[in-house]
Amino acid sequence: MSRRYLQPPPEPELPSSLPRSADAPLLGGRVAVVSGAARGIGAGIARALGYHGATLVLVDTDEAALAATAAGIAAFGVSPAAIVADVTASGTPGLVCTAADDLGGADILVNNVGDFRPDGPFLDSTPDGWGRMFALNLGHVLAMTHALLPGMVERGGGNVLNVSSVEGLRGIPGNAVYGAMKAAVISFTASLAAEVGQHGVRVNALAPDFTDTPQTPMWASTDERYSDHVGKWVPAGRFGHPRDHGDAAVFLVSDQSAFVTGSTLRVDGGTLAAPGWFRRDAKRFTNLPRPLG
Ligand SMILES: NC(=O)c1ccc[n+]([C@@H]2O[C@H](COP(=O)([O-])OP(=O)(O)OC[C@H]3O[C@@H](n4cnc5c(N)ncnc54)[C@H](O)[C@@H]3O)[C@@H](O)[C@H]2O)c1
Repeated sequence: MSRRYLQPPPEPELPSSLPRSADAPLLGGRVAVVSGAARGIGAGIARALGYHGATLVLVDTDEAALAATAAGIAAFGVSPAAIVADVTASGTPGLVCTAADDLGGADILVNNVGDFRPDGPFLDSTPDGWGRMFALNLGHVLAMTHALLPGMVERGGGNVLNVSSVEGLRGIPGNAVYGAMKAAVISFTASLAAEVGQHGVRVNALAPDFTDTPQTPMWASTDERYSDHVGKWVPAGRFGHPRDHGDAAVFLVSDQSAFVTGSTLRVDGGTLAAPGWFRRDAKRFTNLPRPLG
């Protein structure tokens, strides 16, 4: 019998659910760098920041997808600068810094690139694999922040937003090294926030889960026969959309969250609120191994 999978729902029409002011956009006059901006959560964040008036510098390895995302954002007003580069390469932070400086200097840095693949038991992992996990999930966060932070300090303000994961807040069996890197991103976020708060720079993190992206195509990976399980796994009753992270990012890098720094905001539809508990029906939950009906 061939398996059939769920179809993703249509994309939300607007790139942000927050109202946009045409006269005084929330992020008007701000220059924002977003890494991994071509697709998935990074694209959702880039679209939302652009929609709310930020001038964007977008970085990604996927030239065609980056051009398409940049063209979509240009329709809201300002054309983003698109840099085709690998954030794990040593020259990329300097390249990005120069591009942001040409626009007046980065006020916002979103370190979004990250990947859990390939997964597998720690006992089967290798030092080369650990190095790749470090480079993709933590190394570039340090390098990009190190390159762009001095300008923020010099100008007396800025925002760094790191994209971690719920896996940095809990264990992830089968992917221990990825989980450790994401936990390190959360710890780095908190420590750096304390270091640079006096300069007007805020540092926060997002912890996504279960968001439909090319890396984790949630709907297309869910067998149609278990469609009713989505609401049992995710308290919010659906998988996340990149726009959910765009809205959270707009909050965290705008003055709406002026007194929030060092925080990690879970954007997970509630999956970490009661881990190990599953809905059985409209009124009952279970944490026991049993049929969910
Ligand atoms: N999707 C989820 O449910 C989920 C859950 C937890 C954490 N996250 C985190 O959110 C972030 C984004 O995840 P996603 O699911 O949108 O990923 P994705 O793989 O769907 O998209 C990543 C984007 O980054 C680009 N990219 C990859 N490596 C790059 C590199 N070295 N240099 C420049 N660009 C690069 C890709 O081309 C792509 O456009 C990651 O840090 C990931 O760990 C996602």
